[in-house]
Amino acid sequence: MEGLTLRFGELVAVDALDCRVADGAMFGLLGANGAGKTSTIKMLTTLLPPSEGTARVAGYDIVHDAAEVRRHIGYVPQMLSADGALTGYENLLLSARLYRVGRDVRVPRIAEALSFMGLTDSAHRLVKTYSGGMIRRLELAQAMLHRPSVLFLDEPTIGLDPVARHSVWERLVELNRGHRMTILLTTHDMEEADHLCTDIAILHAGRIAVRGEPAQLKASISEHATLDEVFAHYSAVSESGRLRDTAETRQVARRLG
Ligand SMILES: Nc1ncnc2c1ncn2[C@@H]1O[C@H](COP(=O)(O)OP(=O)(O)O)[C@@H](O)[C@H]1O
Ligand SMILES: [Mg+2]
Repeated sequence: MEGLTLRFGELVAVDALDCRVADGAMFGLLGANGAGKTSTIKMLTTLLPPSEGTARVAGYDIVHDAAEVRRHIGYVPQMLSADGALTGYENLLLSARLYRVGRDVRVPRIAEALSFMGLTDSAHRLVKTYSGGMIRRLELAQAMLHRPSVLFLDEPTIGLDPVARHSVWERLVELNRGHRMTILLTTHDMEEADHLCTDIAILHAGRIAVRGEPAQLKASISEHATLDEVFAHYSAVSESGRLRDTAETRQVARRLG
């Protein structure tokens, strides 16, 4: 990211981010509600054009090579995206077409993604009968069909119970280390960030307040600090406002739960 900026009228949601993430990283973008995490992801996934600055994803410029960027990324949005009125298999077939997965490899790729996410036995059930954890795993399956080199996950485990959360974690680690996908995820769950991320940036009001490996960040506070303490220290959570963001988060949590 180079000077990556997003404005909504007067509001600067993302404020001139300069940031380089290594190939193969599991990068955590943290920050209080409204810090600018989703806005950053929307620019990196080419859903919103930056107001200023640019970024390269998988080697392609998000402004000038948006189509190439889309071909090389997978995205699981904060809001649920799977269609509840279709089966898991039908959702995957739709994604395979959208991502232009070749006709000849569609069926084996879908079977592989279902098996990887532990959904083979539920493939032909309607998604509205799935648990929150199954829906998130289906969305991950949808995002991996075309073998993206970079995966964007916006609050992938929000609203999930501990067992479902751990099963999502296991898959993410395997995608990152086994399938060599670079992953950028956002989360409010510091245990999750500590467990998964090799590299973390804490956003505050659209800027990077601090950046480093989890161990470095904790050591910067005190010898026995937790990531929760790091987060509180750098994100300076404000008590005011944020009604919209809180309402949005609760809505996702309710639909997943
Ligand atoms: N479509 C929008 N129109 C106006 N303001 C927005 C819009 N989307 C986000 N914002 C504002 O931009 C800021 C960053 O939001 P967002 O990127 O969603 O934060 P986060 O994902 O970290 O919670 C917040 O102040 C939010 O209210
Ligand atoms: Mg968000």
